[in-house]
Amino acid sequence: MTRPAVLGFATRQLHAGADSADPHRPRATPIHLSAGFVFDDFDEAHARFAGSADGFSYTRVSNPTNAAAERRIADLESGAGALLVGSGQAAVAVTLLSLVSAGDHILASPSIYEGTRELLRDDLSRLGVHTSFVSELNNLAAWEAGIRAETRALFAESIANPKNELLDIAGVAAIAHGHGIPLIVDNTLATPYLLRPIEHGADVVVHSASKFLAGHGTVLGGVIVDGGRFPWDAQATRYPQLAVDRGADGLTRVERSGAGAFLEQARHVAMRYGPTPSPFNAFLILQGIETLSPRVQRQSATALRLAQWLESHPAVASVDYCGLSSSPQRRLAEHYLPRGHGAVLSVTVHGGRDAARAFTDALGLFTRMTHLGDTRSLVLHPASTTHVLRGETELAAAGIGQGLLRLSIGLEDPEDLIADLDQALTVASEAEILTRAGVR
Ligand SMILES: Cc1ncc(COP(=O)(O)O)c(C=O)c1O
Repeated sequence: MTRPAVLGFATRQLHAGADSADPHRPRATPIHLSAGFVFDDFDEAHARFAGSADGFSYTRVSNPTNAAAERRIADLESGAGALLVGSGQAAVAVTLLSLVSAGDHILASPSIYEGTRELLRDDLSRLGVHTSFVSELNNLAAWEAGIRAETRALFAESIANPKNELLDIAGVAAIAHGHGIPLIVDNTLATPYLLRPIEHGADVVVHSASKFLAGHGTVLGGVIVDGGRFPWDAQATRYPQLAVDRGADGLTRVERSGAGAFLEQARHVAMRYGPTPSPFNAFLILQGIETLSPRVQRQSATALRLAQWLESHPAVASVDYCGLSSSPQRRLAEHYLPRGHGAVLSVTVHGGRDAARAFTDALGLFTRMTHLGDTRSLVLHPASTTHVLRGETELAAAGIGQGLLRLSIGLEDPEDLIADLDQALTVASEAEILTRAGVR
């Protein structure tokens, strides 16, 4: 039996990474709910621990169901390998903890998920790892100027949450590589169906698999994908944990694992800190990925239609969506997102917080929820929820006004979503009139 040499994305999202060696020949990947795996004898136990024999030992380190998800996601992201962890936040934390030591510095995009921003700003800084944020997402001169002698990673999102801004991946990757530093890209909102950052120069990709990969709002997960190309050995003084420190076998990680060195380091960090996903969650992520492309295709098409409709609505002040012809990022979008612009957009209603509240509470089909990438459409008011700890000045700098709502578009009939938005915008306009008249 022969297969075509190059398989398409939809085929790979169904078949890549499946374990064809399983003697029972299951069609779906089985859920290996077992804390550990049997060693046949004394010597095998030793060989597994010493790393001289393949095979599984303990689920915190790896598990066959998790490994199948890792192989599939690595394949879809054009990566050399992947590591599945318990959440998107764990993926970001494990990636960074694999690269930095006290005294190091991270340079990050100003437009990132608030949980990641707080991890960088508040939590890693307590450990002596400091982060600065560039002033403008695609200002390459600002990225260049922000790099210090201690910088160990550049971090950004391919499509930024919540305003759907698109990163110039190749531009920022070139700057990172000019300084011998890797670029890490959170590709959660784009998904590998729309965009594969490694193909544009990124070194490591992370995801919240809780979102589009799993796709149904049922499970948390995260994944780290390594492009396998970054020359860690050429940057040994920056990354001693990869290229200088020697294990009991006398080898550095690079000497032991070659192109897989970073991922081995990440697996070691995950093993020590312990954010291991349940194999049951890995199964649900694998299941979700099987329908990734048709879901994202349709969600993107509906999101574009809704963005266009919202933009022309009199109750709407602005819409942030890089697929709109009015978007300042349209040119970048043509280059990076030929298949669609994602399911997340933000809409700012006239009338500030009161109108945003009236609009949100009037929605009947959209679910009020802090999540993205679900089959169902979701709405969230960032200024009063995810970004509640930011002051007005910081919110204004991020372009997140009191009237801004984040929408994640699901798989409902677009006409039903438009009808729901329309009636909620009518309610929001009435609230705005009352606010302007000083009645509220
Ligand atoms: C872009 C992005 N990255 C990471 C995360 C964190 O993912 P999780 O909720 O799976 O920990 C989120 C969560 O919303 C996100 O939107």
